[in-house]
Amino acid sequence: MKNILLAVTGGIAAYKAIDLTSKLTQADYNVRVMLTDHAQEFVTPLAFQAIGRNPVYTSTFREHNPEEIQHVALGDWADAIVVAPATANTIAKLANGIADDMVTSTLLATETPKFIAPAMNVHMYENKRTQHNLATLSSDGYYFLEPGEGFLACGYVAKGRMEEPLQIVERLNQYFKNNTSATKNSRFNGMQALVTAGPTIEELDPVRYLSNRSSGKMGYALAESLAQRGATVTLISGPTHLTPPKNVEVIQVESAQQMFEAVKTRFDKMDIVFKSAAVSDYAPTELLEHKLKKRQGDLTVTFKRTPDILKYLGEHKDKQFLVGFAAETQNIESYAQKKLKSKNADVIIANNVGDRTIGFSSDDNAYTMYYKNGETISLGKHKKVILAEHILDSLETRWK
Ligand code: PMT
Repeated sequence: MKNILLAVTGGIAAYKAIDLTSKLTQADYNVRVMLTDHAQEFVTPLAFQAIGRNPVYTSTFREHNPEEIQHVALGDWADAIVVAPATANTIAKLANGIADDMVTSTLLATETPKFIAPAMNVHMYENKRTQHNLATLSSDGYYFLEPGEGFLACGYVAKGRMEEPLQIVERLNQYFKNNTSATKNSRFNGMQALVTAGPTIEELDPVRYLSNRSSGKMGYALAESLAQRGATVTLISGPTHLTPPKNVEVIQVESAQQMFEAVKTRFDKMDIVFKSAAVSDYAPTELLEHKLKKRQGDLTVTFKRTPDILKYLGEHKDKQFLVGFAAETQNIESYAQKKLKSKNADVIIANNVGDRTIGFSSDDNAYTMYYKNGETISLGKHKKVILAEHILDSLETRWK
């Protein structure tokens, strides 16, 4: 049985932490809970104690056992720590090494793996201070449980809702699965993996460009899962708003041509390549030096083809296993099969981007994998972080 230390901080989503405690307990985790003073304005220690059947910790100075220093022992006891909900205030304290309560002192004093589930008003979340603090925590090794979009207590319908308890449990299940003997036995362990993610942008003039709605979420999730399975991962990313995944080298690019150059120069040393980026097929023929001014009548812009990166890789591959994607709105299977052959990929992972509830930008997607040997695997609709695990699980045995 794994030990989970749940740190609850002071936001309205603290009520969800009660459900999370229940779901973790039902999933056979041994859960202890720490609450900040502000969290106790929303929920009581007794609620967590009753559900988790374990002591609840609220103060660094209320030591339960004289033989140990509580905030140090607790961190060492845990196999993973989950901060849910994590307020902007606690995130800022953690990012700056402040230790002025039970939660922040425990987190500063431990090397146990940490997961963080932010929950707050959308403007607080998008504030560049908060984003900077989250980036700091990510580079310190925190695993990020991205907030969802929906109705927020402040009245906005936007990003900032704490990740759902069931999804957090699922993420922990995956984490422990990957970090046990399975990691050592993973096909990806010790492999060089390259992932492309996000959109490309193709400039027309100094202020305008052609791009698409790819968020990079799928590619970033794949990169993180690959690293957890022991691969050395290079992520070549178009412009996104995402926090870089842990233990992954990230190369930022903008245009299809830049992505092509970045991929081409690294391809030789790779064992496997995931082409999840939404690469623009066309770029304006000419990049104007100055901002295009309004004129009478319609405007016609001519476009040239960009390099087809996946096709190039298919033509130049040696030992590399090529995982291509296909974003389609119709005839999904026949277009995916066509891409499998024309790009000489080993598998094509197809999605229906005509469905606005999944695909581009959404946290969810649904994929079908078309293997070169004719095998077809349907993965169903899930969060992208879960789909990344299913994709890799499928490849574990089929990548020869
Ligand atoms: O980023 P998210 O918001 O998480 O969304 C995920 C996604 C929808 C972007 C992802 O699931 C996806 O479908 N990625 C591929 C998008 C795409 O460009 O598909 P395509 O069918 O146009 O291209 C087929 C393949 O060729 C892709 O692997 C693509 O990366 C590659 N390609 C395309 C054009 C080009 N010039 N060079 C390429 O390498």
